[in-house]
Amino acid sequence: MSQDENALQVEELVKVYPAKAGRGAPVRAVDGMSFAVRRGEIFGLLGPNGAGKTTLLKILTTLLRPTSGRARVLGCDVVAQPLEVRRRISMVIQESAAEMFLTARDNLLTYARFHYLAAAEARRRAAVVMEKFHLTPEADRKVQDLSGGFRRRVQVAKVFMVDTPVVFLDEFSTGMDPILKRAVMGYLREEAASGRTIVLTTQVLSEAEELCDDILIMNQGKEVARGDLYALKLLSRGLYEITMTFDQLPARIEAELARLQPVRVHIEDNTVELALKAEEAEVLERVSALARLGHVLKVEVSGASLEDIFIELLRGPEAKS
Ligand SMILES: Nc1ncnc2c1ncn2[C@@H]1O[C@H](COP(=O)(O)OP(=O)(O)OP(=O)(O)O)[C@@H](O)[C@H]1O
Ligand SMILES: [Mg+2]
Repeated sequence: MSQDENALQVEELVKVYPAKAGRGAPVRAVDGMSFAVRRGEIFGLLGPNGAGKTTLLKILTTLLRPTSGRARVLGCDVVAQPLEVRRRISMVIQESAAEMFLTARDNLLTYARFHYLAAAEARRRAAVVMEKFHLTPEADRKVQDLSGGFRRRVQVAKVFMVDTPVVFLDEFSTGMDPILKRAVMGYLREEAASGRTIVLTTQVLSEAEELCDDILIMNQGKEVARGDLYALKLLSRGLYEITMTFDQLPARIEAELARLQPVRVHIEDNTVELALKAEEAEVLERVSALARLGHVLKVEVSGASLEDIFIELLRGPEAKS
C-alpha cells in the first residue's frame, strides 16, 4: 500500500516541552514515535496519565509543532501544510471548550459554516445531530449555562456536523452518561463504516476493546504495543482472568491470593476477580487450590481483557518474571 493511502503517517516524531523557568528537566512527551493508520479504521491511542496522548493528538491536529520528526494526515504534512490538514479533520481535544457565549445550536451551526457547509444544510444537520445527542431541549441555551456533561455533548456533536475524512477525539466519553456513551459509540462505528477514519484516545479500556480496529498502547512518549485486540491478546499469552464467587469469603483468601502473585486482584462481596500470568494447567491447579478454601458457588476462567493486557504491558521490566 502506498503511504498516501494511509490516513496517518507518523515518522520519528518527537515533542520536548522545555523545562519551566530554571526548574525541573525538559519533558520528552512524545519520544520518537513512528506508526501509520489506515483509512476507515477506528484507531485507539491508549496509555496511562501523562503518556503523551494529548500531545500527540495536538501535533496531528496542527495545534502544536513537533520538536522533530514528521507527521502527515492524508498525505498532508502537519507543519508544512497546516491549512490543508485542518480542512480534512475535525477534532475534540481534551481541554477544548465549546463557545461558551453561543447557544448549543449556534455552536453546531458555526462549526458547520467554518467547514463550508451551506446554511440550509447546516440547519438540517444540526436538527438531526441535536436529536442524536439528546440536545434538542437545550438547543437555545448558552453553553455556559449547561452542565459539564452537556457541554461535552456539544463538543462531540460538532464532529458529526461535517464529513471531514479524519476525526480526532481525545477522551470523548468523559462526563457522558452510560446511555449516551453507548449511543455515541454506535454513531462512531457508523461513521467509520461510511469511510471516515476515527482516531481516539481513552482511559476506558472496555471502550477501546469494543470500538477499535487497531490499538496503540503508549507510555512515556513511546510505543509499548500495537495491533488489533487479537494480536494484543496473543502478546500477553498466558494471561488469564478468573472470577470466583464463594458462599462466604474464606478467611485465608487474601493471604492465598497474595501467594499467587496476581497481575490484578479485586474483591467485592463474596466475589474474587483476579488476573494470573501462568501456564494453563497451572492456572487450573491454582484455581482449584483457591476453591478448596471455601464453598464455591461459581467459577469463570477466561482469556485476558484489554485491561489486564494493559497492566501487564506497562509493568516495569523488573516486575516481569
Ligand atoms: N504544555 C506543557 N508544558 C510542559 N509539559 C507538558 C505540557 N503538556 C503536557 N506536558 C507533559 O507532557 C507529558 C505528556 O502529557 P499529555 O497531556 O500529552 O499526556 P496524556 O497521555 O494526554 O495524559 P492524560 O491521560 O492525563 O490526558 C506529561 O508529562 C505532561 O506533564
Ligand atoms: Mg490527555
